[in-house]
Amino acid sequence: MAKNYIIVGAGGLARELYHNLRDKSARLTPPGKTPPECLGFLDDVKTETAPGYPPIIGTVVGHQPRNDRDYILGVGIPEVRRRVALLFEGNEDLFPAWHWLWDDAALARRGIAVGAGSLIEQGQVSCDAEIGRFALVSGMIGHDVRIGDYCEIAPGAAVSGGVVLEEGVHMGACSTIAPGVRVGAWSKISAGSAVMKDVPPCSFVVGVPGKVYEDFFVPPDGA
Ligand SMILES: CC(C)(COP(=O)(O)OP(=O)(O)OC[C@H]1O[C@@H](n2cnc3c(N)ncnc32)[C@H](O)[C@@H]1OP(=O)(O)O)[C@@H](O)C(=O)NCCC(=O)NCCS
Repeated sequence: MAKNYIIVGAGGLARELYHNLRDKSARLTPPGKTPPECLGFLDDVKTETAPGYPPIIGTVVGHQPRNDRDYILGVGIPEVRRRVALLFEGNEDLFPAWHWLWDDAALARRGIAVGAGSLIEQGQVSCDAEIGRFALVSGMIGHDVRIGDYCEIAPGAAVSGGVVLEEGVHMGACSTIAPGVRVGAWSKISAGSAVMKDVPPCSFVVGVPGKVYEDFFVPPDGA
């Protein structure tokens, strides 16, 4: 990431990202050069950040995107990630794909494709994986995994080899998906659950082994 940046959202995830981005920028900037810096947060509800953080400089709704800066999506829930992406429609490329540890060359060497707006903000992706647009990875992703647009993989969640997560899947903290399983769009896996078989779209999965409640959620408009 070369430009100064704005974080969209100002909650806990946004604060985490602020630290991760700042530390990585400082690590990768050659001596004598200035690292890109956070210009502030956008938030529709909060008006002030915690002491020690950059200010909230405006709302997401009504914000006029500028291409002399980067944007980082700092909200977690898949439905909200999608809503923000739609507000920035036509300007999605202002949201760089970002990995907290690796640069673009390392991702390419490992066969990891990451779409615009997607963040591997902690946790890890091993190799040969495809991550769509505006997804958020904070857990562990094995080889040959496909993760759809807007998915959230919460901290401690683990996805084995060959898993497919369709658009908008939300994996709760410390949940697990067994190898080769496919999870349908806009399904939610509750914290600590283990998904052992394919899950239809819009389902809710709870427990170990995961009990699947079908047609539990309504997909967001037009999805
Ligand atoms: C599944 C979940 C959404 C349910 O939340 P909720 O609707 O507020 O439900 P409640 O806390 O009222 O619990 C309802 C019942 O389900 C049980 N339950 C809740 N979460 C559970 C879980 N993850 N696994 C097993 N049982 C669970 C509760 O014990 C309770 O049982 P009871 O009625 O017998 O007492 C929530 O617990 C969860 O797992 N969220 C994921 C959070 C997460 O990981 N976020 C990412 C943070 S970055």
